Amino acid sequence: MNSVRNDLQLRLARAEDIPAIMTLERFPHYRTFVGNWTEDEHRAKMAGTDCRYLVAEEEPGEMAGFAILRGLSSPNRSIRLQRIVVANPGRGVGRRMLAAIEDYVFRTLKAHRLWLDVFETNTRAIHVYESLGFRREGILREAILRDGADHTQLLMSILDREYEALLGKSHGEDRKIREATAGPAAES
Ligand SMILES: CC(C)(COP(=O)(O)OP(=O)(O)OC[C@H]1O[C@@H](n2cnc3c(N)ncnc32)[C@H](O)[C@@H]1OP(=O)(O)O)[C@@H](O)C(=O)NCCC(=O)NCCS
Repeated sequence: MNSVRNDLQLRLARAEDIPAIMTLERFPHYRTFVGNWTEDEHRAKMAGTDCRYLVAEEEPGEMAGFAILRGLSSPNRSIRLQRIVVANPGRGVGRRMLAAIEDYVFRTLKAHRLWLDVFETNTRAIHVYESLGFRREGILREAILRDGADHTQLLMSILDREYEALLGKSHGEDRKIREATAGPAAES
């Protein structure tokens, strides 16, 4: 039996997805690790040219997760994964979603670099990022004040050539995951 679920689809988000996105980013148990924006902020960013909102679905109409990319208007081809959140963690959705995001960023957007910051205590997220080729590149010491505590962040990134090398090297599950996970089919 093929152990890799192949039913995750990544699509571009629409304005009607914003309430579900706001619900996910406000999950109480994600509070430390995930920022959140108001509906107006989401609407403005979604309508702008610098951000791209992506939604992952296992079943049509059911949001399994979302991600926000920033920096699309930058001449540096350096895209920031601003936020990635899944509805049910620990089921492999985040890993498949990130693989699809990498494919989208490097193959469709032709970016040079994909980067993010993550709380150093968010070991699950760091594990997923590293398993898909992200490297640690720096530390922002006590950079974020949240809920009365100063949190240290890790900076992580993957470059286009590292992504291609990873794809070339990957076998078995990784390759099946990448091949089975579709990126947004259209830009509209
Ligand atoms: C981070 C996140 C996107 C990952 O998605 P996910 O669906 O939970 O991840 P997966 O199930 O695909 O993979 C989890 C991996 O982490 C491992 N893991 C689980 N808990 C862990 C922990 N505390 N420390 C280290 N690794 C851990 C699992 O074993 C698995 O690794 P494996 O595939 O090598 O066995 C998701 O957990 C999430 O939305 N978290 C809350 C929001 C968040 O922190 N977002 C990132 C910062 S914005």
